[in-house]
Amino acid sequence: MRPFVVAANWKMHKSPAETGAFFEAFLPKLEASGIAKDPAFRKVLFFVPALDLYVAQKLVKGSHVCVGAQNVYWETKGAFTGENSPAVLAELATPYALVGHSERRALFGETDDQTAKKVKALHAVGITPMLCVGETLEEREGGRTNEVIVRQLQAGLAERDATKRIIVAYEPVWAIGTGKVATPDQAGEAHAVLRKALATLGSAALADATPILYGGSVKPENSAEIARQKDIDGFLVGGASLEVDSFLALCQTAKA
Ligand code: 13P
Repeated sequence: MRPFVVAANWKMHKSPAETGAFFEAFLPKLEASGIAKDPAFRKVLFFVPALDLYVAQKLVKGSHVCVGAQNVYWETKGAFTGENSPAVLAELATPYALVGHSERRALFGETDDQTAKKVKALHAVGITPMLCVGETLEEREGGRTNEVIVRQLQAGLAERDATKRIIVAYEPVWAIGTGKVATPDQAGEAHAVLRKALATLGSAALADATPILYGGSVKPENSAEIARQKDIDGFLVGGASLEVDSFLALCQTAKA
């Protein structure tokens, strides 16, 4: 059975002090909610800014929450000013890292080839990549959604270690931060396409074991409907993850 994964992407929000205040309020509420008693089937992850990782990692120690990185470089060390080393993420005991988020692709020029190198580098140090894929509005309106997301998936997995785990996040670019959510049919279809592609690119076992999360304007008011889709195994949440109570409500969403 795949775990249900509720992941926060804080993007470039929260200082170390704000991170401390968030977890001080959030962690006791999460434990009290009872979700933590079933950690095998409900994973709660936070992708925090790199400058907050060290502090966040200390704060969540001993809880049922994991902290991950939003970005990583593919070389371990060297003259790469401003980049995050996968080896250092591993030393910080960071179990997950995002790769290929649409903001990295659109604003920082991250290419399919680079996502492949990042996935390989993360696997090499034992970190699970969460590979993000998603079409723009133009691509959707041009009938190219499936082609784009399968291409991004295939490229991102090209150099992976097939013995290691991955997580996939489907984030339609037009739904990110816009308040527009993919309809259950749109999201359900994209997730089914990705699940099938995982089987073709890897194996039936890979398709079965890999959580595929939906991201794009997920909020407590729409999360239950999204979670009802067969191939949706959780959420990757931006805006609604910044507030303790809204993110807690998302963690409590029932998976039908
Ligand atoms: P929003 O939830 O703010 O739309 O952001 C989604 C996202 O980009 C998560 O990675």
